[in-house]
Amino acid sequence: MTDHERPVDERPTVDHLGRPTNEAARVLAETGVDPSVDRQTELERIAIWFDERTGASHILRATLRKVFPDHWSFLLGEIALFSFVILVATGVFLTFFYVPSAAPVTYQGPYTPYQGQEVSAAYDSVMRLSLEVRSGLLMRQVHHWTAVIFVAVIVLHLSRVFFTAAFRRPRELNWIIGFGLLLFAIAEGVTGYSLPDDLLSGTGARIIYSAAMSVPFIGPYLSFLVFGGEFPTTAFISRFFVLHVMLLPALFAGGIASHVGLVFLQKHTQFRGPVERETNVVGRHFWPGQAFVSGGLFFLTAAVVAAIGGLVQINPIWAYGPFQPSLVSSPSQPDWYVGWLDGALRIFPPIEPTILGITIPSAFIPGVLIPGALFTLVAVWPWVDKLITHDNREHHLLDWPWEQPIRAATGMALLVFFALLTLAGGNDVLSVFLTASVEELTHIFQILVIVGPIVTWLVTYALARARLQRPPPDALEAEAEEHPGRPRHRGMAVQRTADGGFEEVEA
Ligand code: HEM
Repeated sequence: MTDHERPVDERPTVDHLGRPTNEAARVLAETGVDPSVDRQTELERIAIWFDERTGASHILRATLRKVFPDHWSFLLGEIALFSFVILVATGVFLTFFYVPSAAPVTYQGPYTPYQGQEVSAAYDSVMRLSLEVRSGLLMRQVHHWTAVIFVAVIVLHLSRVFFTAAFRRPRELNWIIGFGLLLFAIAEGVTGYSLPDDLLSGTGARIIYSAAMSVPFIGPYLSFLVFGGEFPTTAFISRFFVLHVMLLPALFAGGIASHVGLVFLQKHTQFRGPVERETNVVGRHFWPGQAFVSGGLFFLTAAVVAAIGGLVQINPIWAYGPFQPSLVSSPSQPDWYVGWLDGALRIFPPIEPTILGITIPSAFIPGVLIPGALFTLVAVWPWVDKLITHDNREHHLLDWPWEQPIRAATGMALLVFFALLTLAGGNDVLSVFLTASVEELTHIFQILVIVGPIVTWLVTYALARARLQRPPPDALEAEAEEHPGRPRHRGMAVQRTADGGFEEVEA
């Protein structure tokens, strides 16, 4: 057999006694040269070199062959992932110019109203980023808008997972990891938002400081740990910087890796359908199908945040001015993902109960206790859900939102509660639009945040129950076959008449 007839990729093989079992092995034994090696491409040689040392080809093949069910709501987690990547990329650019220091400097930049004024080095550097560094303002805008969108997508993703019960066994752990990611995202937002040291972000930092200080017993230690002393401190900017660019991104990276890793390990859930079963996954392979969908989605996400960042102004710190502890501007709202905290603090009555001789500061109940309790409820929901449904079985098929009325009602009530609190955080803005006084709006919100979630719970529960009682569509077909004589009233339909007009007929 001549060389060009020898199968190209025939690798030498030997039996358990080391004796050659194929032609390539015989040539190798005789000449010491592996004939199959000569024909490999450079890339193949590198891949084999890696595979021989890591055995990665098995994992890679399994990963590339992994099947992903196809539904638009399953892309929300990916959009969150891509937003994180964009945040890191634009964030790295910003760190090249940002100065994490509250030390006073004299502003010498092009913005005339502040020229010669004492501002912090942090504020000065962000003014330079915005007005002097090429594409500095674009990067700031893209970074900030991506942060706003990032948390919104995480909440949508969480809601998708919640209302379809994708948190059930074996995904409870992934729910907890995911929940941690939500908290990290809010912490990243708060620390990042405070870095420019402008008047608005300074006001926001003061609110966080007061909420931390209000925690009985540990409040002062907690706020001194985070802020480095009594607010305003010179240390908090550099501490927030370390949290924002080092600790939290590291926790994020680890959290996302284990989160997505668990999705790969546990396979993705899927909606019920004609062929979907608990034991299979119906969808497309990761390679090339899902990889191209995800790739396209990444570029789409980047394009959207770049467009918004380029066209819609956000956080114009030159309009707010540098932070001065004695000043507060109105209206002043934080980013939406902490708007509920601001709203809770604004509308909660100023009560300071004394329990066992300890006075509980008024910020504690609305700022820590209530949000803390509700966030804990969300975090442990997979176990609460098990108590409600008495169902500890493994699930890979999703529920439709109405299939568990208590779950659907509780989820909707929680969303409405936080939405109303966020709206209450804008009571000064709303009072301008609604020509009502801030006091009147505060009283209205005090009632709404109690009545709203209760009404939402009851309405959602009733709607879900009604949907559950409605016979599934194919039953009517079965019924019609079973009882051919019985009138089948399916409501009205619009039908085309012979002369091209339309008429209503019974369906
Ligand atoms: C930075 C934040 C987050 C990122 C980047 C992320 C990413 C992802 C991705 C890519 C998936 C697979 C695709 C999908 O179903 O959407 C996923 C699934 C999942 N996520 Fe997240 N997620 C985040 C936050 C959360 C949060 C806040 C929760 C819940 C509290 C959560 C719970 C889950 C669960 C249980 C699954 C499995 C869903 C299933 O198999 O259907 N994730 N996540």
